[in-house]
Amino acid sequence: MGPAASTKPTIADLDRPTRRVRVERCVCFDQPFEKLLKLAREEGLTLEQLSERTGCCTGCGMCKPYVRVVLTTGRTSIPLMNGRDLNAIAQQAEAQARADNPG
Ligand code: FES
Repeated sequence: MGPAASTKPTIADLDRPTRRVRVERCVCFDQPFEKLLKLAREEGLTLEQLSERTGCCTGCGMCKPYVRVVLTTGRTSIPLMNGRDLNAIAQQAEAQARADNPG
């Protein structure tokens, strides 16, 4: 592979078919993203509160940018990506949520 593509990743990239491995759980604490999303939505938990509650993101930390994408986009099957791309997608989702719910 060459240098990273200059195009910015988008939320839609999460739904495109890909041959990449998909990340669907916090491996360290065996917490499926589906379960984490359900818990966060039902109880209105932030990422930090979800971490305190389940342990997710507090082991190796590799899942943290994925969990952020899960919470901001509602997707629970995320293609393997680097942290920069995951953060860009989460930022887009957060900006979209602010635009949809001003104030
Ligand atoms: S995979 Fe979630 S803390 Fe390691």
